[in-house]
Amino acid sequence: MTSDIGLAILGCGVVGTGTIELLARRNQTIAARLGRPITVRHVVVRDLAKSRPVLDPSTRVHTDALAAINDPAVSVVVELIGGLSPARSLIEHALRLGKSVVTANKSLLAAHGPALFQLARQHNQVIAFEASCAGGIPIIDALTRGLCANDIRQIVGIINGTCNFILSKMSLENLSYADALKGAQQAGFAEADPTLDVSGRDAAQKLAILSSLAFSQQVSEGDVSCTGIDTLDAREITFARELGYTIKLLATGTRDLATSRLALSVSPTLVRHTDMLADVSGGFNAVSVWGDAVGHTLFYGKGAGSLPTASSVVSDIISVATGQAKLLFDSATVWPDLTARASIMPADAVLQRSYLRLAAVDRPGVLARVTDILGQHGISLGAVLQHEAADETHVPVIITTHLARRGNLLLAIEQIDALDVIGAPTVHLPILDSPGE
Ligand SMILES: NC(=O)c1ccc[n+]([C@@H]2O[C@H](COP(=O)([O-])OP(=O)(O)OC[C@H]3O[C@@H](n4cnc5c(N)ncnc54)[C@H](OP(=O)(O)O)[C@@H]3O)[C@@H](O)[C@H]2O)c1
Repeated sequence: MTSDIGLAILGCGVVGTGTIELLARRNQTIAARLGRPITVRHVVVRDLAKSRPVLDPSTRVHTDALAAINDPAVSVVVELIGGLSPARSLIEHALRLGKSVVTANKSLLAAHGPALFQLARQHNQVIAFEASCAGGIPIIDALTRGLCANDIRQIVGIINGTCNFILSKMSLENLSYADALKGAQQAGFAEADPTLDVSGRDAAQKLAILSSLAFSQQVSEGDVSCTGIDTLDAREITFARELGYTIKLLATGTRDLATSRLALSVSPTLVRHTDMLADVSGGFNAVSVWGDAVGHTLFYGKGAGSLPTASSVVSDIISVATGQAKLLFDSATVWPDLTARASIMPADAVLQRSYLRLAAVDRPGVLARVTDILGQHGISLGAVLQHEAADETHVPVIITTHLARRGNLLLAIEQIDALDVIGAPTVHLPILDSPGE
């Protein structure tokens, strides 16, 4: 055998630990496949006092990331620290020294992906990042290789396991958002500070990365209109169910055929019970991609966790070591440093079906006034649901609409909410509408 492939693994937390465990478990098959072994030369951490049973006693564990990257025996740097700093400068340092990088860092790529890819190209290296989106699901490989014969029109993902876990709990156990969040924290599915997840920002970062590749346009997190699950009322789940829908936090990217502009959003969204995405529950992720040749595809699996995410990291390490990652990085034209800034459709122009919940006085003629306003804005109704009034002064009236411009819907809601028979701001959520086969 020729010389080994030396790794510096920066970070030995959830994903770093899984990566080291999986590399050890697959040691022989990887060496046979590559014709040479992979050796973990350095593991870099912040706190040397932490116990790390996964590490072989001979592994060099230390806190000096630069020394690890500078080691001439290291050819691939695996960044599993997360966040922007020092991850960004460490990756830049590695690339400048002519070392390729594997990373799981969606925040960094969503914020600085194009500049980092450009730097990798200048130094004839590659950045592999399968683990940055949807954990163990090989969705980046699918978008850049498996589906490259397609013109992709839409990508829809359940790509935040924490939110999916919370929504599943709310739905299956009839819990409020606050109680479901508490359950998710106790089960280890939500952080003590869950803001990045429940605000939808984590999903928006992943959507930025995935839609850049799917549509060959440079997308950043700020291009994604974002609503989280933190303001979702459990009543929406109950009413949606009565109408044949379930609510999922969907990250949706759609390319307008006529203009090529992208509509990008993260939002709690109604999904038909018969749609396979409705069955994705707990901490699982799924990404549905619609291509003009293949039609609908659905990729399903664990979107986080130590070994599932390590599955993607190790696959990237192998792909970098075999040269396949570099070949694709050099030949495909989808990488964000090679594409133009995305043209984003203004949120008001997006066409969507919607769910509305109005708080209306239970009196004859109210519905007629509401439908009249919707009609004036070119919005036609799908379904209407109203329960008999209990003792409340206002009763919930649920309306679903056919396709309409979001801007028109918002104007109509403004007028509806100004009526003297409406007692609270109208709640509105999008309904998933996918291209047909
Ligand atoms: N967790 C998942 O399921 C998952 C899934 C997909 C993608 N990711 C991504 O994977 C990356 C790592 O996530 P994680 O969950 O493994 O994080 P984590 O458990 O918090 O681990 C982070 C590791 O980085 C080390 N570290 C932090 N700051 C450092 C510094 N300045 N210098 C050296 N080491 C430092 C920490 O050291 P100590 O151990 O000494 O504290 C720890 O070992 C993130 O980009 C994340 O978004 C995670």
